[in-house]
Amino acid sequence: MKILVTGGSGFIGSHVADALSDAAHEVTIFDIRKSPYLRPDQKMIVGDILDQECLDKIVENQDVIYHFAGIADIDECAANPVDTAKHNILGTVQLLEACRKVGIQRFVFASSAYVYSDSGSFYAASKQACESFIENFSELYGLKYTCLRYGSLYGARSDERNSIYKLIKQAVQDGKIVYRGTGEEMREFIHVQDAAQISAAILQPEFENQNIIITGSEKMRYIELLEMIKEMLGNKIEIDILPSERKAHYKITPYNFSPRLGRKMVNNPNIDMGQGLLQCMAEVYEKVHSEKHEEMGLFVNDTKPE
Ligand SMILES: NC(=O)c1ccc[n+]([C@@H]2O[C@H](COP(=O)([O-])OP(=O)(O)OC[C@H]3O[C@@H](n4cnc5c(N)ncnc54)[C@H](O)[C@@H]3O)[C@@H](O)[C@H]2O)c1
Repeated sequence: MKILVTGGSGFIGSHVADALSDAAHEVTIFDIRKSPYLRPDQKMIVGDILDQECLDKIVENQDVIYHFAGIADIDECAANPVDTAKHNILGTVQLLEACRKVGIQRFVFASSAYVYSDSGSFYAASKQACESFIENFSELYGLKYTCLRYGSLYGARSDERNSIYKLIKQAVQDGKIVYRGTGEEMREFIHVQDAAQISAAILQPEFENQNIIITGSEKMRYIELLEMIKEMLGNKIEIDILPSERKAHYKITPYNFSPRLGRKMVNNPNIDMGQGLLQCMAEVYEKVHSEKHEEMGLFVNDTKPE
C-alpha cells in the first residue's frame, strides 16, 4: 500500500516508517524537517501540516495515513497552549479534511496513554480533541481510523525529551543520576521497535475504528529502572532521588475512567528491557563521547597517538 507518515522524521514516526517499509509498503515521509533516518526505499516531502493546500496535494495518491506530526513533549505543550492547539489539533483536523476528500482507506493517529488521564495538561487535551474529531469524521464521512495510544516509549533515536534517554545521559556523562519524584512511579516501558511493529500490524481489518493501547507487558517502578541502569554501568554511578515539583505526570497509572475503551496489544516476542537499555547506553555513549567510535563491540578513541 502507499502510506504517508507525517512526523516521520521524528522518534516514533521514523521507526514506524521503517516497520512499514519492511512490510513492503511504499512509504513517503512528510515532516517539517528532513529525516536523518531516511532509507533509499522511502520518499521524503518537507512541509507543514498547517498548510492545507500542501496537505490536499500530498494525500491525493495515498492509501493510508499514519499521523505522528505535532508537539510530543508534555512540558512544551504545557508552556505553549496556542502552539499545541495549532500543531496538534488544527494540523490533525486539516489532515482529516484532506483525507476525507480523497477517501483515504485508514487514518492512523498517534495518541497517548495520557489521553483520558487527568495529568498531561494541554498535551492530553490535544489528544482528546483529536480522538474526538477522528470519531466524528468516521461517523459523518465514514473515514476509517485506528488510534494508537502509546505509553512510555524508549530506544534508539530518542532525545532529551525522553525520560530513559535523560537518565542514561546523566549516568554516562556525569556519573550521577538526579531523579525527581519518589521513585515509586510506575511505568510499562515499551521499546520503540516493538511499538513500531505493532503499529504496522494494525492495518489488518480487525483493527478498523479501534483504539489500541501500546505499552510494555510488565510494570516497573522508576526506582527499579534506576537500579537496573546503575547495575548495568558496573555500580559506578550515584543516584539522588529528590522531590518533584511537576504535576503533569501520573504516579501509578495514566488511565482514568473513560467511556472510550482501548484494546491492549503486545509484541510477541518482544525486546527485553535490559537489551533495550544497553542499546540506548551505546547510542548515548557514542553521542557524549564523539571522540570515540565502536569497533567489535568496544569503544575506542579516534585520535591517533602522537
Ligand atoms: N515518544 C513518546 O513516548 C510518545 C508517547 C505517546 C504518543 N506519542 C505521540 O507520537 C507522535 C510522535 O512523537 P515523537 O516522540 O516521535 O515526537 P518527535 O518530536 O520526535 O516527532 C514529531 C515530528 O513531527 C514533526 N512536526 C512537528 N510539527 C509539524 C508540522 N506542523 N508539520 C510537519 N511536521 C511537524 C517534527 O519535525 C518531528 O519530526 C506525537 O503525536 C506524540 O504525541 C509519543
